[in-house]
Amino acid sequence: METEVRVGSLSDFPDGTLTGVAAAGHRLIVARKGDEVHVARNRCPHLGFSLTRGPGGLRYDNGVVQCPWHNSRFDVCTGENLDWVTGFAGRHVPSWSRSVIGLGRTPRGLDTLSATVRDGDVFVTGV
Ligand code: FES
Repeated sequence: METEVRVGSLSDFPDGTLTGVAAAGHRLIVARKGDEVHVARNRCPHLGFSLTRGPGGLRYDNGVVQCPWHNSRFDVCTGENLDWVTGFAGRHVPSWSRSVIGLGRTPRGLDTLSATVRDGDVFVTGV
């Protein structure tokens, strides 16, 4: 049986926001959409950098997070990669230079985790 870890109270995650948290020694992102909560590792699959801290700042809108480093975008609910390495710090770069910034890494999705809300608390499994 997988261990369940409490990441906080539902009220810690305002509706429509994405929050970085630490739970059981792991860095996670928690996105809330109404009563739904989605959790993924706070680790961009491009170079492993934080999705909540970086030169472009936290960028999250309607279930989509943009990496603050090289602008890759991900659906936080499914983990799907929507855009891969399009610039730096929120600014776009010419398409010819994207492969240089990409460093040969192939597009990948977020590492999502199963999340549940119970008695006002948010729990994840599989950390
Ligand atoms: S580290 Fe996230 S896109 Fe490069």
